[in-house]
Amino acid sequence: AEQNSSIRLNPSQPGHTINRDIFGQFAEHIGEGIYGGIWVGEDSKIPNVKGIRADVVKALRAIKVPVVRWPGGCYADQYHWREGVGPQSSRVDRINPWGNVIEPNHFGTDEFMEFVQQIGSEAYINLNLGSGTVQEAADWLEYMTTDLPTTLAKQRAANGHTAPYRVKYIGFGNEAWGCGGAMTADEYFARLKAYSVFALNHNPQQRFAGIDLLFDRDAHNPHAMQRIAAGPNDTDTAFTEALMKKWAAAPGYLPLFDAMSLHHYTMTRGPMSDASQDFDESDYATFAQLALNMDRVITLHTEIMDTYDPQKKVALVVDEWGNWLKPDIAENPKFLKQQNSLRDAITASLTLNVFARHADRVRMSNIAQMVNVIQSMILTDGEKMLLTPTYHIYHMYVPFQDATLIPISIDSGRYRMDDINLPQIDAIAARDANGKLWLALTNIDPVDSADITLQLEGMVVKSAKGEVLTAPRVDTVNRFDEPAAVVPKPVKFTAKNSRLLLSLPPKSVTVVELKG
Ligand code: AHR
Repeated sequence: AEQNSSIRLNPSQPGHTINRDIFGQFAEHIGEGIYGGIWVGEDSKIPNVKGIRADVVKALRAIKVPVVRWPGGCYADQYHWREGVGPQSSRVDRINPWGNVIEPNHFGTDEFMEFVQQIGSEAYINLNLGSGTVQEAADWLEYMTTDLPTTLAKQRAANGHTAPYRVKYIGFGNEAWGCGGAMTADEYFARLKAYSVFALNHNPQQRFAGIDLLFDRDAHNPHAMQRIAAGPNDTDTAFTEALMKKWAAAPGYLPLFDAMSLHHYTMTRGPMSDASQDFDESDYATFAQLALNMDRVITLHTEIMDTYDPQKKVALVVDEWGNWLKPDIAENPKFLKQQNSLRDAITASLTLNVFARHADRVRMSNIAQMVNVIQSMILTDGEKMLLTPTYHIYHMYVPFQDATLIPISIDSGRYRMDDINLPQIDAIAARDANGKLWLALTNIDPVDSADITLQLEGMVVKSAKGEVLTAPRVDTVNRFDEPAAVVPKPVKFTAKNSRLLLSLPPKSVTVVELKG
């Protein structure tokens, strides 16, 4: 069947900028997320540059990863950076509780910075606030960022990097209410204060404004590092309220954080319970509904943030999200390696659309996780690599990085399954820096196609050109022996009698440029 819908937009009335960091990634030391997935070492048979997989770098460059969060996650609060710098032979072996395996520390700060540079991205370093010390964090930042010839900077130079690194974001711990230290919001804030005051970025291009006033440095550096407080999980608004109250009470010359994180995973009966493949339509519909529910979760937190920070100085960063499913393709379940289907691609598009609509407050997101872990972009198996359906969404959405959102109104049919009742179509529109107009449209309905009539004010659209992602079934996945089961295909629509109809197949995501 086919349902008729319409979308209205007025390109002369733009909304917020969709910060490119909304399309950010997260890479934690879990299973094959780093080892095997990114780092293979210089002696590996797998083609690499300075130990980093060349195929993975090439794939990530193509999706223009704006920022990578590292080294965790829960792992960040047990990570001691000194154990991962210097000659490989002197790195420290540790237990990594994710799977109870040896963490060899072969991939440390210099390897991460090399990786970020190879993929053309920015660094988001998550500091250890749980089991580390303030001094250790301050030293880490000095090691990474000072241009003065201190002992730590000389150590960095001896390890191969004379120039200071760029650190765009730091995070003060992770999930303070849980694996980061089982703290109350007030206990956490008391610890955060010391990190906030003493963990400084010394790179002259990146100094952070607030603390620089105290030291009489450049107070208005547009490239200043952003400091992220570890915020709530899901709908824990009490945690948000406690942190924002403290933020608002701090003296204006010393803002203690610039952003607050939110973690919100999609799952039904807890992590690792939902199948990543061979599921039915009812499971599909449930995940589509949960993906759209990100809007409610963000709204709950932003309403509180608006009370304490009406000028929206503090960003909300969703630095962990995604479909957290059964780790059904990993030998060790704690490696969190799961398959990725068309359903994951569709829910990623729905969630990114929610972030774009909240772009005035949501200024970064980091999907969990980049390679081989949870809802990943890439799966590897030894020397083999494949791109997941979710990867293709990130590729199709590249034009939306730093584009200006154009609010739209959608008049669409409904998709009903069991007691789930959703709009059939979800969409966003934006204008990119080159003035091009883009539309991303998701047809959630797995059975019905949709014909969309576009109503644009002040512009005659003659054609729309781009890509469509769909597959025979909602649970179709890419496998190493069939890596192109879910890949985007070119699509073009041409206006007839000055009317442009966009035909969307069932269970699909379409991204097109509108041409006048
Ligand atoms: O992404 C996996 C884990 O999920 C992270 O380490 C933690 O922050 C969250 O609970």
